[in-house]
Amino acid sequence: MSVPRVRIAGIGRHDGETVSIAGWLYNLRRSGKICFPLVRDGSGIIQCVAVKATLPEETFEALKNLTQESSLIVTGKVRAEARAQGGYELDVESVEILQRVSEESPYPITPKEHGIDFLMDHRHLWLRSRRQTAILRVRHEVIKAIRDYFDSNGFTLVDTPIFTPAACEGTTTLFEVDYFEDEKVYLTQSGQLYNEANAMALGRVYCFGPTFRAEKSKTRRHLTEFWMVEPEMAYAGLEDVKTLAEGLVVFCIGRVLENRREELAVLERDVSKLEAVKTPFPRMRYDDAVELLRRKGSEIQWGGDFGNTDETLLTEGSPQPILVDRFPTAIKAFYFQPDDENPKLAMGVDVIAPEGYGEIIGGGQRIHDPELLLRRLKEHDLPPEAFNWYLDLRRYGTVPHAGFGMGVERFVAWMCGTEHIRECIAYPRMLYRTRP
Ligand code: 4AD
Ligand code: MG
Repeated sequence: MSVPRVRIAGIGRHDGETVSIAGWLYNLRRSGKICFPLVRDGSGIIQCVAVKATLPEETFEALKNLTQESSLIVTGKVRAEARAQGGYELDVESVEILQRVSEESPYPITPKEHGIDFLMDHRHLWLRSRRQTAILRVRHEVIKAIRDYFDSNGFTLVDTPIFTPAACEGTTTLFEVDYFEDEKVYLTQSGQLYNEANAMALGRVYCFGPTFRAEKSKTRRHLTEFWMVEPEMAYAGLEDVKTLAEGLVVFCIGRVLENRREELAVLERDVSKLEAVKTPFPRMRYDDAVELLRRKGSEIQWGGDFGNTDETLLTEGSPQPILVDRFPTAIKAFYFQPDDENPKLAMGVDVIAPEGYGEIIGGGQRIHDPELLLRRLKEHDLPPEAFNWYLDLRRYGTVPHAGFGMGVERFVAWMCGTEHIRECIAYPRMLYRTRP
């Protein structure tokens, strides 16, 4: 009779049955005539109980001396155990060891503390740890929630290119790539410009993919390669962006709280902080934000961009993210629609997450007037030829339109409460990190 192969996450459906689990040895405790292999299979971790008296001698000996991360298939009877993590244990009946990790070259990551550089060098193995798998599952949940939110609100996913001929977010953070026959292209900083074209075709669209910034900043919030979701809407303005953005944030938090409680517990995340996030989020103008920051002791001057500490100060004491709008045009990208009442201000908004997680969303209303757009391109020293197709959108049925971008890793870092966003993507790319 063949024994059903089950995953640890669903083991509760097999209480009292004999099943097998295919996984890896996470840890092992032993005491003479009994040993407790902790087995992980990617869906969870279960404690197995192997009793010497009930097993063939070779089976018990093999298990008792097994090394960390050896691959094995254990067969045994599932037993509810209130004290066990996950609520179940497995009483071992037999075991098949696929590979015993050699003692000569043991698994490099042990339960003891390792430095971050060591862990990052072994990222391909570090991912197997309980904490890292929890983060990856939260990330998965966030990405699924993002897609469900847009899909159920009338948005069509349209992928935008990664090789691009023009800058979207300023020329200082472009990665240049040698294309064929001496042509230079750049890795995309944002799908926005193409999104705008797609929005004129489909009304409401989003793109979702990797984006690149040659940003030489070594902060806990910057990657050189990160994932961004960007919605874009035709016939829309700044207020529509704010409503859509706060809706997205609470929807994603709701899903994480609904489906990833166990992971948040592993991460020791204070979930009350996430539960407290409700719409509407407080709104603030840049002018008032600068004044508030100065009162709180920041050195910021009107016209300056917020630093990490400014963003932390802004949300201090509030569980809610804050929406800050109308930044000075001078510190914003070329495409922002100016405020009718004061053209020195841009119709852009940043969503600043609480607890020091900083800007998670940036967006706003785009210039729809062709002359103004051309003028701005020139002011920003951007070659109008490269943007000719983009100007077409203002020549053929131009309409007010708006959208935003949300960085996935920043959002996941906030959900998980991680100190640095490098843990929120499987293989982070940073200023001094391109391996493994
Ligand atoms: O504010 P940003 O630069 O906006 C844009 O790229 C717009 N074109 C988006 C749009 O309107 N369609 O970036 C948007 C978000 C930020 O709020 C942040 O969450 C994330 O992308 N982000 C980064 N995440 C990690 N590392 C970096 N270096 C990031 N730069 C931006
Ligand atoms: Mg921004």
